[in-house]
Amino acid sequence: MTTIRIIGTGSALPRKIVTNDDLSKIVDTNDEWISSRTGIRRRCLAEEGETTVELGIQAARRALENAKVTAQEIQMIIVATCSSETNFPSVGCQIQAGLNANNAVAYDISAACSGFLFALNTAQAYARTGNYQKILIVGTETLSKVIDWEDRSSCVLFGDGAGACVVEASPIGMMNYVQHSDGSQGDVLSCYTSTMRTPVISKGMSMKPLHMEGQAVFKFAVKTVPGCISQVLEGAQVSKDRVKYFILHQANQRIIHSVAKRLNVPKESFPMNLDRIGNTSAASIPILLDELNSQGMLEPGDYLVLSGFGAGLTWAATLLEW
Ligand code: ACO
Repeated sequence: MTTIRIIGTGSALPRKIVTNDDLSKIVDTNDEWISSRTGIRRRCLAEEGETTVELGIQAARRALENAKVTAQEIQMIIVATCSSETNFPSVGCQIQAGLNANNAVAYDISAACSGFLFALNTAQAYARTGNYQKILIVGTETLSKVIDWEDRSSCVLFGDGAGACVVEASPIGMMNYVQHSDGSQGDVLSCYTSTMRTPVISKGMSMKPLHMEGQAVFKFAVKTVPGCISQVLEGAQVSKDRVKYFILHQANQRIIHSVAKRLNVPKESFPMNLDRIGNTSAASIPILLDELNSQGMLEPGDYLVLSGFGAGLTWAATLLEW
């Protein structure tokens, strides 16, 4: 049966690096608190011109180059984001215009930190119809625009960035996926604006849109993620020992270590980059995939599990062969 295979990856990060010490000048925090509770040491934050769209275009160009595919060959662009500068046009359409990918249909998916996986699963469903051969998937975020920079318990967690993958219809590649939503718990992680244009870190911003109940999110993640990873493996009758890397949404090192422990898998099988880039929501999984790919750490035949979790609430896992 037709599935999809990832044939190219790319990513883009803003130029400005903000360390935990830098944040301690803005809110009452310190490097020791942030790094011991989250594993995060620094993040990249967008400045003027580094928008959700622009970062997405950069990541997409690199993924196309890596896949050796032209923008005109792309038939569909699916963008996962929850930090668009516009309600419309979609980020997908703006990225299409930036790439001159004029044979593609383009649109957005909103599933916060699970968005990239929901997009990947959607791409597979379209490829199975036989109507789409080459699809570009982009996760891109500038959440720094919607963070409450006076709330030390949430502003220290996030970073900006974009990651992208080119996928093509193939007999091997994605083997199984599971995806879930629980809207009844939406209030534990919410954001009541979607169209802020101010891309700069600025204390004293009058809007306080991002609200997070940290401990509730933590409990949700450590409870649901091991379950959905087990579900995706069992559904494909694949042993966890066959999996080379578990590529999880990069929210918090403690969440990732807890998932590793519950699955009884060595934590070395869970690569991380959150120490350097923080939580980039829908961009975190494709950025990490691109790092592993560009460092030559992925070989044909490797089995990977990707798993995302976040606002909605939403969570998902995908099993694929590289
Ligand atoms: N610096 C210093 N102190 C802080 C900070 C900070 N940045 N933030 C909170 N504190 C203080 C609190 O005010 C509190 O002080 P008090 O005891 O005097 O009241 C104390 O630290 C403990 O606060 P808690 O909220 O209980 O801290 P906790 O150990 O739960 O850690 C954290 C908070 C890191 C947010 C944790 O709950 C967590 O990681 N949750 C998961 C959230 C997450 O990953 N969100 C990402 C977005 S969602 C997603 O992507 C899935």
